[in-house]
Amino acid sequence: MFSLNGQIALVTGSGRGLGLAIARRLAELGADVALHDIAHDAPQQYGEAASLTQVADQLRQFGGRVALAVADLTDPAATETMARNLEQELGPISILVNCAGGDIGAHGGKPVPNDALNIPLDDMRVMIDRNLISTMLVCRVVCPGMRQRGGGAVLNIASVAAQVGLTEGVVYAVAKAGVIEWTRCLAAELRPHGVRVNAISPGPTMTARFLATRPTEPHMRDTAIPLERYGTPEEVADAAAFLVGAGARFISGQVLRVDGGLQLFAG
Ligand SMILES: NC(=O)c1ccc[n+]([C@@H]2O[C@H](COP(=O)([O-])OP(=O)(O)OC[C@H]3O[C@@H](n4cnc5c(N)ncnc54)[C@H](O)[C@@H]3O)[C@@H](O)[C@H]2O)c1
Repeated sequence: MFSLNGQIALVTGSGRGLGLAIARRLAELGADVALHDIAHDAPQQYGEAASLTQVADQLRQFGGRVALAVADLTDPAATETMARNLEQELGPISILVNCAGGDIGAHGGKPVPNDALNIPLDDMRVMIDRNLISTMLVCRVVCPGMRQRGGGAVLNIASVAAQVGLTEGVVYAVAKAGVIEWTRCLAAELRPHGVRVNAISPGPTMTARFLATRPTEPHMRDTAIPLERYGTPEEVADAAAFLVGAGARFISGQVLRVDGGLQLFAG
């Protein structure tokens, strides 16, 4: 039920953080994996690995094929070239995980201010591009092949931020809410063709960037606590592996919160 033998998975933003944990889990389960990041040295930024090449070497220990690609996914031409090159190397992509993104503004860190009425316009545009347009662009180059072949699984990484009113990270939350609605619409469009499209909304999760870019509470980092804490990348990766695998073969258009029960309201 959980084997991914024979699957070819592209995980965007997988040089580090959640994307890396998901790519590793899919490789462990037998998938051939295409790693991707915006730059070859993106894994270095928060000390997770020296380069994309080093991450690829780590994943090859699981026995499957591993390809790698560098592209800014807000650039349509670069995104198309990336997908074409990866499919030439590995074969048709059957699993797509759109994980690239984050509350990262035009100048690298979080926008200042980061609220609704004062966030700078360049940060607004970059936030929508980085989180929503990039997800749409990758789907638009990978999903036509899935539709033609009559199968495939897409998983979009949204956020619990998309499902509640916020005073910080507002445009990020709006972009992720767009990712959720994109998930539902694409699921409807691809339903007759047997292609499933789902989303995960992680709660606060202890990736290296998360830990490096905000003050955190020590007790919330304690993984001995069952639920009332930050999540781990591996907990999100396990849910991702389920949603792209045969265990979820009749699930499409859904949003799964992976937040330890932090948000318990509907919607
Ligand atoms: N960590 C959390 O608490 C958390 C919670 C909810 C959702 N998320 C989402 O999970 C995903 C991963 O977050 P993370 O915490 O692992 O952060 P991260 O910064 O480690 O990972 C994000 C990845 O996306 C890549 N990326 C960013 N912009 C890109 C672009 N324009 N083109 C190509 N690649 C680009 C980055 O280089 C990086 O590899 C993001 O979409 C984020 O919004 C994270």
